Amino acid sequence: MEKRFYLETFGCQMNVVDSERIVALLEGVGYRQVAHAADADLVLLNTCSIRDKAERKVYGHLGRFKPIKDENPSLIIGVGGCVAQQEGQRLLDKIPYLDLVFGTHNVHKLPEMVRDVEENRVRCLETEFLDRETRLRLFPERSEGDTISRFVTVMQGCDNFCSYCIVPYVRGREVSRPSGQILDEVRRLAEQGVREVTLIGQNVNSYGRKEPGEIPFAQLLNKVHEIAGIERIRFTTSHPKDLSDELIGCFGSLEKLCWHLHLPVQSGSDTILHKMNRGYTRQQYLGIVQRLKEACPQIRITSDIIVGFPGETEQDFDDTLSLMKEVDYADVFSFLYSSRPETAAAKLSDTLTKAVKQERFDRLIALQTETSARIWASDQGKVLPVLVEGESRQGAGQLFGRTTWNRIVNFTGDRKLIGTIVPVRISRVYKNSHLGDLKIA
Ligand code: 5AD
Ligand code: SF4
Repeated sequence: MEKRFYLETFGCQMNVVDSERIVALLEGVGYRQVAHAADADLVLLNTCSIRDKAERKVYGHLGRFKPIKDENPSLIIGVGGCVAQQEGQRLLDKIPYLDLVFGTHNVHKLPEMVRDVEENRVRCLETEFLDRETRLRLFPERSEGDTISRFVTVMQGCDNFCSYCIVPYVRGREVSRPSGQILDEVRRLAEQGVREVTLIGQNVNSYGRKEPGEIPFAQLLNKVHEIAGIERIRFTTSHPKDLSDELIGCFGSLEKLCWHLHLPVQSGSDTILHKMNRGYTRQQYLGIVQRLKEACPQIRITSDIIVGFPGETEQDFDDTLSLMKEVDYADVFSFLYSSRPETAAAKLSDTLTKAVKQERFDRLIALQTETSARIWASDQGKVLPVLVEGESRQGAGQLFGRTTWNRIVNFTGDRKLIGTIVPVRISRVYKNSHLGDLKIA
């Protein structure tokens, strides 16, 4: 009898890619994915531990599966991803109805672990970090898919140890995938009909640096650019300290490279940037932004900012607000500082009250809401090239796609347009998307 699995994914693109791999692996051993946990023989959570809130969510979600398991004791429940890596055995100790825990380097072991639980009713734990060679061999390969836009992993892990960040501890050290393999994958995707690739990694800008003879990221971009069929290229995430002038130049020279860069600043204060171990100053960051705007005047920049880092003064926070104004970000993802186990910042005394942090957070959001609204409103009335990705949820005849700035546009059009870039006049600007009319050339 066919077995069924239910999978929920939290967190960043790395987890999205890992989850695609989980789907492919489980389908390979006779499992089919279902939309409801209650219909499943196997329930999996692929988890994120970047902030405490994300971690707590895992426990909340696991609680929902308990009554299902009470009804169906043969149900297998598993946790993977960053919380699994961080907590390991503690998860099994805390949650008696949990059957398996697999860490960030152990996705490939899942089918074997599931079989072990099925056949022997044992509880399984795999959270060992793998050596470099094994990781390189196991780099996520793409499962088949019919999407127009896909993520391609170019590197994994991180060596930066920003003082607040748990990623180096739960994802391990940096490894870059051989460029030949990446280019083969992109070529294959292009043949399958993929038109946009987003090259992903914790810090793609340091791609190849640790691998003798490997090309730097800017050259990798140039090579991806040559691949026929690929119409658009994006990449994320970029660490400002590793953004080379050659890479900045790509925004002016590579036509397929979208006019958008996510360049997390984290703070606008030199004191805080130093305590965060970010490796750049406010002035250096602003210099990069200026060079980006010179290379590509249409570029829109987005950022991540942490509010309430230990010791952040009113002046430090004002520096963040003034930097935001200077850069004129199209969007900012802001986070309240959350102390993470093992990190260097966890040892700093955190004297700010919750109320002060929240008040700063609210001020930041208010500023960004205003800035974003102004920037996105400037699209109104313009005819913009939109890569059509599929039918929108709005109903029949409705399509959606994205502008070069990664903004969703909904409009009426024929399904045949999916996978092509079409001119769309922006008629309405909403908070998170645009509405437009197809402009027939
Ligand atoms: N607390 C708050 N935000 C954090 N981030 C990473 N670690 C923490 C933390 N401990 C944010 C950073 C990063 C984004 C993915 O999450 O802004 O860029
Ligand atoms: Fe975390 Fe810094 Fe590495 Fe990004 S660069 S994953 S914020 S340690």
